Amino acid sequence: MKYRTLGRTGWKVSEVSFGGWAIGGDWGKVSDADACAALHQAVDLGVNFIDTADVYGKGRSERLVSSVKKNRKEEIIVATKVGRRLPWQVAEGYDRRNLTAWVEDSLRNLSTDALDLLQLHCPPTEVYYRPAVFGLLDDLVKEGKVRYYGVSVEKVEEALKAVEFPNVQTVQIIFNCFRQRPAGLFFPQAKRRQVGILARVPLASGLLTGKFRRDSQFLNDDHRNFNRHGERFDVGETFSGVDFENGLNAVEEIRPLVPAGASMAQLALRWILMFDAVSCVIPSGKRPEQVVDNCHASALEALAPEVMASIQRTYDRRIREQVHQRW
Ligand SMILES: NC(=O)c1ccc[n+]([C@@H]2O[C@H](COP(=O)([O-])OP(=O)(O)OC[C@H]3O[C@@H](n4cnc5c(N)ncnc54)[C@H](OP(=O)(O)O)[C@@H]3O)[C@@H](O)[C@H]2O)c1
Repeated sequence: MKYRTLGRTGWKVSEVSFGGWAIGGDWGKVSDADACAALHQAVDLGVNFIDTADVYGKGRSERLVSSVKKNRKEEIIVATKVGRRLPWQVAEGYDRRNLTAWVEDSLRNLSTDALDLLQLHCPPTEVYYRPAVFGLLDDLVKEGKVRYYGVSVEKVEEALKAVEFPNVQTVQIIFNCFRQRPAGLFFPQAKRRQVGILARVPLASGLLTGKFRRDSQFLNDDHRNFNRHGERFDVGETFSGVDFENGLNAVEEIRPLVPAGASMAQLALRWILMFDAVSCVIPSGKRPEQVVDNCHASALEALAPEVMASIQRTYDRRIREQVHQRW
């Protein structure tokens, strides 16, 4: 496993880290045993950074992470997120009372006195026009409840606005072969300000592993079924906002580029790691085998310029029109 600097935190994080959504909920059933085995596997392979959120299974993901962390001697940095428990996503909800209560709940779930990295969980755009919210986060740092804070965003514009606040350490954003816009405008700004970037949904919800077919079925409690058209949350979080059939066609174009002996998931993750502004990718892993597959992306050779150009062409021809200006 290779490690990269996370913004100005001084932390070196595994370039392939772990996303804790799928072990919480919304992805069909994942047993506690599988979830813990996946987390242990990640740590065994050198993963030292885990992303989770208070809403992933109503605290289940945070509690599982905490239980595994207790049984490991390695230093593990845990990033969590708050804000999605608001009944309505309005900027007014990001007040002192709510933020403090959410942080207290996450501290309890994670059995710790201070959160390593607190992220606002895709708050409404208006929040980025309210410096007072970031002042409240500064207060939480001063009180010792939070070490560092950052944001998770839907749109490039929100990311650009977020990095104007000097104590924002990280921005979590969707970035993958099917979601390329962040690299253009945002990455140079993040680099200039030494803000860490967490690349989320790196496998486009599994689409970029190349395992799906036209007739692939998803259970009712899997967002790839119930949020296919953005019924419950931003449609961009499901298959990166790419139409499933269209995504399958694009995947077939990319498949011949997979290096010998590697998997398509590894190619997709290595593509993201070609961008040095990215601090880490955070693929969800539901089982140890997925974690092993994903972590090996760190050992893959740099992709050749022709491979990068070919993926770019597929994006331009098949994906760009659908997603580029939307997020
Ligand atoms: N708003 C936000 O802030 C937000 C939103 C989304 C995600 N995130 C974060 O980003 C992380 C990653 O995003 P994501 O979970 O949405 O999408 P993802 O990482 O692109 O896709 C993960 C899914 O792909 C499948 N998979 C993973 N590795 C695989 C492999 N090697 N081979 C085959 N299948 C594999 C698994 O599902 P199956 O086995 O069921 O196919 C897994 O749940 C999340 O865990 C979370 O921490 C944050």
